[in-house]
Amino acid sequence: MDKALEIKRLEVSFIPAGKKRVKILRGVNLAIGKQESLALVGESGSGKTITARSVMRILPRSMYLESGEVLIDGTDVRKLTENDLMDMRGRLAGMIFQEPSSYLNPVFTAGSQIEEAIKDSEFNLGSSPLRGEDMVGVKARISRTERKKLVLKMLSEVGLKENVYYQYPHQLSGGMQQRVMIAMALINSPELLIADEPTTALDVTTAYGIIELLKKMMTRYGLSILFITHDISLAANFAQKIAVMYAGKIVETGPARDVFSNPLHPYTERLISCLPERYKTGERIKVIEGHVPDFNALPKGCAFHPRCPYKKEICLYKEPGEITKGTTTVMCFKYG
Ligand SMILES: Nc1ncnc2c1ncn2[C@@H]1O[C@H](COP(=O)(O)OP(=O)(O)OP(=O)(O)O)[C@@H](O)[C@H]1O
Ligand code: SF4
Ligand SMILES: [Mg+2]
Repeated sequence: MDKALEIKRLEVSFIPAGKKRVKILRGVNLAIGKQESLALVGESGSGKTITARSVMRILPRSMYLESGEVLIDGTDVRKLTENDLMDMRGRLAGMIFQEPSSYLNPVFTAGSQIEEAIKDSEFNLGSSPLRGEDMVGVKARISRTERKKLVLKMLSEVGLKENVYYQYPHQLSGGMQQRVMIAMALINSPELLIADEPTTALDVTTAYGIIELLKKMMTRYGLSILFITHDISLAANFAQKIAVMYAGKIVETGPARDVFSNPLHPYTERLISCLPERYKTGERIKVIEGHVPDFNALPKGCAFHPRCPYKKEICLYKEPGEITKGTTTVMCFKYG
């Protein structure tokens, strides 16, 4: 199996109380190779988080996976039982979020929370850098002393000092909390890490530290990363591949440098031309005209057509399919 993650024709729907079903993900296709990073980019409300949550099967209430496949290293997540799912989270894939403070329990120390995340049965460090000489053979149920040793090693891996083990979340800065989350996500040596806007709540310097840490962990742990961001320049800087999402569909995907230097989809083109570093002092801030459509009332045809300067008649009534142009796959009638 050469893919760490494969999402095929994924459809996710939402049934608001007493209302009609709304489709949020409308046939998402996405693939991440082993030890590869892919950035999922798009405006707020396009469906990035729902895609990530579908992989972990932690969807909001009333939302469900309607059809399609989600394969993590070949394992179909949709077919797992609740018990297998608990096991899968952490072992096959770990996840970090935008607001670490919302996911850390304020009444437990950072150390005890990372320790709690260690999965016992058949625990095996494999080729993980956590496995030192003293850890060889650490398998099955591990003792408290071994757990603590592992956590301390992991804290050092994510650039935190030993004393963080004894500290409570409120004693840690946002950047430190995110490092604790990364430690928790990687403590079971998963092959896939999902990072949902991990730097959005942080200042530029702290965010840079987290990005560098993720890059380091990717190499050291042989990780594949699904990195979610609304910032396409950060995506191009961080990831090998970019997938652009609009209204619950991937409208363009390809190698990051190709997508960024030669965007094919009009939406990707707009995302890039509106980047802040492209304006001069005093210039009006550029925005993509129009709004992200409401999933309850998506435009007919191509969902981007009300905002698209290139729209043709066919765009108003027909949805474009996927077309491959060079290294990039795009959904747009501009190309046929
Ligand atoms: N808990 C929820 N209950 C109901 N609908 C939701 C919920 N979370 C998301 N949605 C719906 O799913 C759509 C996609 O949301 P999602 O959170 O995936 O967007 P996103 O691309 O991650 O946006 P952001 O950049 O703001 O995080 C939203 O527009 C919203 O309509
Ligand atoms: S399909 Fe038509 S409306 Fe949609 S992005 Fe392409 S040109 Fe624009
Ligand atoms: Mg989100």
